[in-house]
Amino acid sequence: MPDAEKSAGAERKDYGIGVPMETPGFFLKGSAHLYWGVKNRLSQIFNPKSGRTVMLAFDHGYIMGPTTGLERLDLVVPPLIPHVDCLMCTRGGLRTCISPEVRKPVVMRCSTGATVLRELSNEVIGVTVEEALALNAAAVTAQACIGAEFERETLDNLSYLINEGNRYGLPTLGVTAVGKEMVRDARYLGLACRVIAELGVHFVKTYYCEPGFEEVVAGCPVPVVIAGGKKLPELDALKMAYKAIDQGAMGVDMGRNIFAADNPVAMAQAVGAVVHELAAPERAFELYNDLKGK
Ligand code: 5RP
Repeated sequence: MPDAEKSAGAERKDYGIGVPMETPGFFLKGSAHLYWGVKNRLSQIFNPKSGRTVMLAFDHGYIMGPTTGLERLDLVVPPLIPHVDCLMCTRGGLRTCISPEVRKPVVMRCSTGATVLRELSNEVIGVTVEEALALNAAAVTAQACIGAEFERETLDNLSYLINEGNRYGLPTLGVTAVGKEMVRDARYLGLACRVIAELGVHFVKTYYCEPGFEEVVAGCPVPVVIAGGKKLPELDALKMAYKAIDQGAMGVDMGRNIFAADNPVAMAQAVGAVVHELAAPERAFELYNDLKGK
């Protein structure tokens, strides 16, 4: 039951679709009144020219162990780095497998405490904001498991990151994790995104859904990026990214659909064409095949 409104007319919501939220003085939605340091870090994550980002998520090992396509962080990730805007990873993954000479911003996964073998919402904070800063993170992140057994604890984790991060000008990415018992529809995702935006996260990562993704984005007063989810055929993943951007997402934070692609380096570039240039998915797929053939 993702929406507790029961009153008559509650279904007739007005998201003002077609009326973009104003962004006075700074290019990102909902970010005009942030501190200089937060804006500067967000400008490293989101390209100020396109206003969007391709984030490479490779934090999967923190709950899943050696995920398919990501068995060797040291071999898989470095060739992808030149083709993405930002890295999202764990402390251990970064320190062991990514060169400190890398100049791309890092979004640091700070939550831990659960694996795929147990209840995934039962997380705590494992990496402090000070440690993330010591690793030169551009943002910190944890997931909110709205409606799950440990919903409150996951919101507490995010609150810690937001409160402490604000002291240092360090933005927080809130991830809406969807438990097995939840339906990944616009009602649920819209509720989850809005809850964590109102808590104070600076940007949100959620899943694409249809119908209604445009309303999820419109109801969320901070930038939304999408996770890729399970591995799809490459053209389907590009179509999903295109629809998300076309409906207002400010980028992707994609893992399996890049690193587990037939050719991950070509896929990263094809996703980039969709995100930054709004290239049609068929055109981006041509680009993918061209790059793959080289
Ligand atoms: C899980 C995460 C993961 O990093 C991310 O969602 C995985 O990316 P993808 O679904 O694209 O493989 O944040 O909470």
